[in-house]
Amino acid sequence: MQSFVLRLLFILSANVWTLCVSQWMHSITLDPHNKYHLKWYFDDHKQRITFNVVVETTGWVGFGISPNGGMAGSDLVIGWVDDNGVTHFHDRYAEEEELPTIDDSQDWHLLESGHNGSHIWLTFTRVFITCDTETDLSITSDITKLIWAYSHHKPSSPVAMPQHKALNRGHRNVHLLSIPGHDFDNKNNETIEKWDITSSNLLIPNNTDTTYWCKIVIAPFTSKIHVIRLTFVFIFIVYELKIEPIISPATNAPFVHHMVLYRCLHPNSSYMDQYASHDGANCVDFANMPYDFIHCQSVYMV
Ligand SMILES: *[C@@H]1O[C@H](CO)[C@@H](O)[C@H](O)[C@H]1NC(C)=O
Ligand SMILES: *[C@@H]1O[C@H](CO)[C@@H](O)[C@H](O)[C@H]1NC(C)=O
Ligand SMILES: *[C@@H]1O[C@H](CO)[C@@H](O)[C@H](O)[C@H]1NC(C)=O
Ligand SMILES: *[C@@H]1O[C@H](CO)[C@@H](O)[C@H](O)[C@H]1NC(C)=O
Repeated sequence: MQSFVLRLLFILSANVWTLCVSQWMHSITLDPHNKYHLKWYFDDHKQRITFNVVVETTGWVGFGISPNGGMAGSDLVIGWVDDNGVTHFHDRYAEEEELPTIDDSQDWHLLESGHNGSHIWLTFTRVFITCDTETDLSITSDITKLIWAYSHHKPSSPVAMPQHKALNRGHRNVHLLSIPGHDFDNKNNETIEKWDITSSNLLIPNNTDTTYWCKIVIAPFTSKIHVIRLTFVFIFIVYELKIEPIISPATNAPFVHHMVLYRCLHPNSSYMDQYASHDGANCVDFANMPYDFIHCQSVYMV
């Protein structure tokens, strides 16, 4: 009997331990006023992702994923701690720009929550792909459009919520399922060639929100190979000035929205070699882009 109790205790404490040492893989601030912090990690085998939000508010907090950055069609959660210290948390769906309805199937699960007079924090988890195809969106290895919002007012009930102020909301494009500092696990000591694709020094124009920049690079291989990892810096970059505020001034990362690698299928491929040293061009400015760039339209990697 005694040994059973001891074992049970051990298992319990092992579980607590696992929760405590879980390494957050990513940590970002979602709003420009440094009030909305997000951390997350995921488990590929369990197909599960866990988020932690810490927000400087005593009202409600909303977080979710959007098909296009807007609220309509978004799969989201809203949580708050009421005056009795009880946390309310629901998996919801926003049909329109209105109070999102509570899903019949609750697939985002609250793990932990708390508040301290100035901040509220919520830790919650869900599987990448839920069975709720009506009101949940899948989490994929693509870029995910996260939406966030908060209000300083506490709802009186889950269906009577004060709206967020226009400023206390936003969206952010994030590669949720990226592995920080991921390195290929090379068990067989195969020879790996690394191909670093870098842009020339590009001064991002200041007269437009979004810049599309294209540059030709010569691939160091000609036949089909197994590409393990590509370190790229810029190839086809989309730069969004207003939507993505400078978060980490030390690096250019926040400016890069996404990159696409295209294959150039010029009938005479050596003809493209002359562009290897070309600085690149604004991809939407056809007048100034070398004509041969039109041969590069076969998407290779996003
Ligand atoms: C409340 O929690 C936030 C987030 O963890 C923390 O930054 C802040 O210092 C805390 N405030 C107090 C008074 O403990
Ligand atoms: C792989 O290479 C490393 C360093 O070159 C070496 O220490 C290790 O023993 C090698 N492993 C195998 C399986 O050959
Ligand atoms: C915008 O860029 C141009 C040249 O690219 C520069 O002359 C100008 O000072 C810049 N304006 C601001 C506000 O940075
Ligand atoms: C292909 O392009 C290269 C470089 O411009 C040129 O030297 C060569 O003659 C071209 N080959 C053919 C078959 O047109």
